[in-house]
Amino acid sequence: MRLPLFVGALLLAACGTSATCPTANTLSYESFGKAFMTSYCVACHTTGNASDGVNLSSLTLVRTHLNKVDAEVVSGAMPPKGSGSPTAEEKTNLAQWLACGAP
Ligand code: HEC
Repeated sequence: MRLPLFVGALLLAACGTSATCPTANTLSYESFGKAFMTSYCVACHTTGNASDGVNLSSLTLVRTHLNKVDAEVVSGAMPPKGSGSPTAEEKTNLAQWLACGAP
C-alpha cells in the first residue's frame, strides 16, 4: 500500500517544508530561535500586540504555532515586506529547528 505514504507526504508538504531534524542538531531556542523571532517576528507578535492571535514572544508560545510559523516563513508571507528578510541560511535553520520540535 503506497497510497497512505503519498497522502502523508502531501499533508506534510501542505504544512510547511519537508525539512527534517538533523541527527547532530545544534539549534536551540537559546542559540537560534529566540534571536530569529526577535529579529523578524516579535515586533508584531507579542503580548498586547499579537497579530492574528499569534504571540511568538516565548518558546512555549512559539511551540503552539510550529506548523504555521514554518508555512508562513517558507511561503514568504512572514515577515511582511519592510520587516527585514531572513537569509536563505536563516530560513533553512528555522525549518530544521522547527522540524526538531523547537528544542
Ligand atoms: C510588521 C508586522 C509583522 C511582522 C514583523 C510579522 N508578522 Fe506575522 N502577522 C502580521 C499580521 C498583521 C498578521 C495577520 C494578517 C495576515 O495574515 O497577514 C500576521 C499573521 C501571522 C500568522 C498567522 C497566519 C495564519 O494564517 O493564521 C503567523 C503564523 C505569523 N504571522 C507568523 C509570523 C512570523 C513567524 C514572523 C517572523 C518571521 C512574523 N509573523 C512577522 C504581522 C507581522
